[in-house]
Amino acid sequence: MRPRTSSGTEKNVADLSVDLGFLKLKNPVLAASGTFGYGLEFTPFFNLEELGGFVVKGLYLGPRPGNPPPRLVETHGGLLNAIGLQGIGVEEFATGVLPRLKGLDSVVIVNVCGEHEEEYASAVRFLDRFDGIAAYELNISCPNIRADGLCPALSPQATRAVVKGVKKATSRPVITKLSPNVTNITEIALSAQEAGSDAVSLVNTFLALAVDARTRKPRLANVFGGLSGPAIKPIALRMVYQVAAAVRIPVIGMGGIMTAEDAAEFMIAGASAVEVGTANFIDPQAAVRIIEGLGRYCRQNNLERIQDIIGTLDVPS
Ligand SMILES: Cc1cc2nc3c(=O)[nH]c(=O)nc-3n(C[C@H](O)[C@H](O)[C@H](O)COP(=O)(O)O)c2cc1C
Repeated sequence: MRPRTSSGTEKNVADLSVDLGFLKLKNPVLAASGTFGYGLEFTPFFNLEELGGFVVKGLYLGPRPGNPPPRLVETHGGLLNAIGLQGIGVEEFATGVLPRLKGLDSVVIVNVCGEHEEEYASAVRFLDRFDGIAAYELNISCPNIRADGLCPALSPQATRAVVKGVKKATSRPVITKLSPNVTNITEIALSAQEAGSDAVSLVNTFLALAVDARTRKPRLANVFGGLSGPAIKPIALRMVYQVAAAVRIPVIGMGGIMTAEDAAEFMIAGASAVEVGTANFIDPQAAVRIIEGLGRYCRQNNLERIQDIIGTLDVPS
């Protein structure tokens, strides 16, 4: 590992790299989609090359304005958002943003959205013409696009259809992002695997409601939003553990990761890598702090390689 230069004192001697099979990461920490812009917004805060990688804000084929405000509400230990996938679209991203990320020694993953299964495939087909994208993360799980929270990740059939269509359209790796708003997330993960997904990432946000008792109105213009942050961590951990036990493909875990210890917990539960989301709004250097902390965690626990903790949860039989 390279020594950390900004603090001047930290040296990560442990090997923090992880291997997803289709993708090698210098460390297991990715910035989560929708909480890290298109990457460039964070260059004033740290060198993007310190990250294992980052997932850019969800992109449809065309630009989208998102939902009307208010679309963000803080709750106890959480954040409720109904941004509604505001974005610049694949063309503006590929021609305006991607060239500025060129040559970056950090993995760029594009989060792809669609109104229907053909749009996912078309978006990926367009992006495939451009270099610099390591993988696609399929956002089939955003709860605040339709008023009823419906999305493909709620059904094994719809999940399979989107993944199959995208796999036909690209030879790049595909990560399917799952929704926690289901009774049996393992069933959905298995359908993504069957359809050829190279990995699954979980969880997206939980469909939720915030009420203003004074006005008796919903706090979000969209009524419902997606809950993220520390409040969801134990449920996300449970789902990562269940999915990792059921699938053969790598699992990328997320949901309320604020510290290196949180990240280690997800890896112990079975995640090969993690994504950090809401924490970026509290501290724009959160992801880098977590990477440094994982180095310390390895030293304190006499671990030479962080990947040795993946899936090691000691469950009494
Ligand atoms: C403001 C906001 C915007 C988000 N936008 C996206 C998005 O565009 N695509 C996506 O797949 N997930 C999106 N997410 C979900 C996050 O990537 C992540 O799955 C979720 O917030 C749980 O992780 P966290 O608790 O660390 O934030 C968004 C989350 C937030 C808070």
